[in-house]
Amino acid sequence: MTDIGELLLSRIRDVADYPEPGVMFKDITPLLADPAAFTALTDALAEIAGRTGATKVVGLEARGFILGAPVAVRAGLGFIPVRKAGKLPGATLAQAYDLEYGSAEIEVHAEDLSADDRVLVVDDVLATGGTAEASVQLIRRAGAEVAGLAVLMELGFLGGRARLEPALAGAPLEAL
Ligand code: PRP
Repeated sequence: MTDIGELLLSRIRDVADYPEPGVMFKDITPLLADPAAFTALTDALAEIAGRTGATKVVGLEARGFILGAPVAVRAGLGFIPVRKAGKLPGATLAQAYDLEYGSAEIEVHAEDLSADDRVLVVDDVLATGGTAEASVQLIRRAGAEVAGLAVLMELGFLGGRARLEPALAGAPLEAL
């Protein structure tokens, strides 16, 4: 593993049986509280934004906001929030996706993205890939191009990368 990978991993806390029995929750709050680790993470994600030619950063609610906003500032790009349904006041595009039990919906302000944009999606965790896949679909429906998806960590055993491959259509998925 790279040095930055070791540093970031050392600041992620495993919490057993949260939010329900049998789940090992990845708590990133120790990383956020450590300025060296948070800065290293922000720099690494901003480097991906630059390398992929992104013109905007999309953050996925809620932890994707915490990570994505400083990346946008560091990279000199605008930040666009993709929110859970019902939270944005303006005209939105919505995308539904399936959960293990039931479904969810995310939204973006329609005016925030256009055909001129290349978008880097930033989030903390790639698990099943459902949220990221829906965000990619939303960005494309808004007419924008997907520059890539950058996450702090990927839970490989849940198969999110394979699920996302068709939606990403060659755009990179980078997990630090
Ligand atoms: C978590 C995580 C990702 C998503 C990953 O967010 O921050 O956004 O789930 O899961 P998936 O790959 O299976 O879609 P959550 O929905 O818990 O929202 P929160 O950040 O608002 O707590």
